[in-house]
Formats: sequence, structure tokens, C-alpha cells
Amino acid sequence: MEQLDQELERAFDKLKVENKHRLSILRNLDIIRNVDETTYEHCVVVGLASAKAGSVLLLDAKGLLFPGLMHDRGKAELEPYLLRIKGKPTAEEMEMIKKHVQYTYDLLKEVHPFSAEVGLRHHMFQKHPYPTVLPEKMCAPFTPATQAKIYAYARIISAVDYCHAFITRDNARNGLHGMQELNAALVRDKPGSAQLVQRLLTLGVVGAIGTAQMYNLF
Ligand SMILES: [Fe+2]
Ligand SMILES: [Fe+2]
Repeated sequence: MEQLDQELERAFDKLKVENKHRLSILRNLDIIRNVDETTYEHCVVVGLASAKAGSVLLLDAKGLLFPGLMHDRGKAELEPYLLRIKGKPTAEEMEMIKKHVQYTYDLLKEVHPFSAEVGLRHHMFQKHPYPTVLPEKMCAPFTPATQAKIYAYARIISAVDYCHAFITRDNARNGLHGMQELNAALVRDKPGSAQLVQRLLTLGVVGAIGTAQMYNLF
């Protein structure tokens, strides 16, 4: 865990993240950590790996780091037992878990509007997407180019999120073998993002997630 914290500090330094943003992000991450250490770890890995994806795809790494780190902020507002369910959640539990994207949005929209909009959409690129209805207007007057960026970055974060969940939680649940099974699972669950994940695999991003070796990320 200490290693992950150091990686995060290093990413902040490399990407020259302003102090006020660091403090605000760390405050949000601390809230998650206090509720569930595994969710905290997940958020940091997804943030770092998304930033790496941004860097290798020549995109805005900081624009992926911030929402990646805070995409599941809303999970800290759920009943903690929902974060520790082993196996498949019931339909009722799933409905409660789904609310985390709205909570992420509500909690971030004043201070981190871009991350709030990305966070709201990070489960929209899957077989059973949610939320099905979005607010009529975005929470800030984003240009059309930034609005497109919000969707593109939400897709990247959702791919990284899926890979991490698969390699860690789902893998443990289903007795699968990490990366070897990832392709088959992608075709099944996330056909629209299979190509993106393949690219991230080739570029070493997924490998970094799988081994939790976040060194030399940028
Ligand atoms: Fe999520
Ligand atoms: Fe997640």
C-alpha cells in the first residue's frame, strides 16, 4: 500500500498537479480509504493506469488521472457491506451499488466538474449500462470539445476499471486466470471496448494493472 501511495505522489509531481488539487483529491481518497481499503486501492490503481493510458495514447494524462482516482468516490456513501460482497450481488443489492455513480457526481460537481461528469459515465460502456438517464445539462459550461473528451475519457477509465476488477475481484470470485481469460470476458461483457483494451494491453497498461507494478508509469 505504501508503494501505491508513493506512486501517487510521483504521478502528482510528474504531472505538476497543483497543491490545492492534490489536497482535494487526497481528501476524497482518504474518505474512501476509511470506509474500505480495497476500494481505495482500486481507485488509486485505476487513476494511475488511466493516466498511463493517457500518456501512451498521447492524451491529457492529468485529465485521466483526476477522474480515474475519484470515479468510485460515491462508493464511500454506500452501506460498507455492499463493498465487501463475495460473489454476485442480488438484484436489490445491485440497485443500491449502482447509485454510487450519482453519489460520485453529486460530491464532485462543485469542485471537480470534469471528474464528476466522467465519473457519472464510467458504467455507461458495458453490457448493462447505467445510469440510463443523464441530467439535461452538464454541471459546467463545457465546450463541445470538452464534452466529447468527457465521453472518451469515461470510456478509457471504464476499460481500465473493468480490467482491474476482472484481474482482482472477479478473478478471485470466479477462479479465472487473470489475463488469459480477459479476452474472452471482454468479448462477453464489453464488446464495444475490446479493441481499446487490446491496445492498452499492447501498450503495457493492462500489464501494469495486472501485476500492480506501477513503476515507470510516465
Ligand atoms: Fe464504479
Ligand atoms: Fe471502479
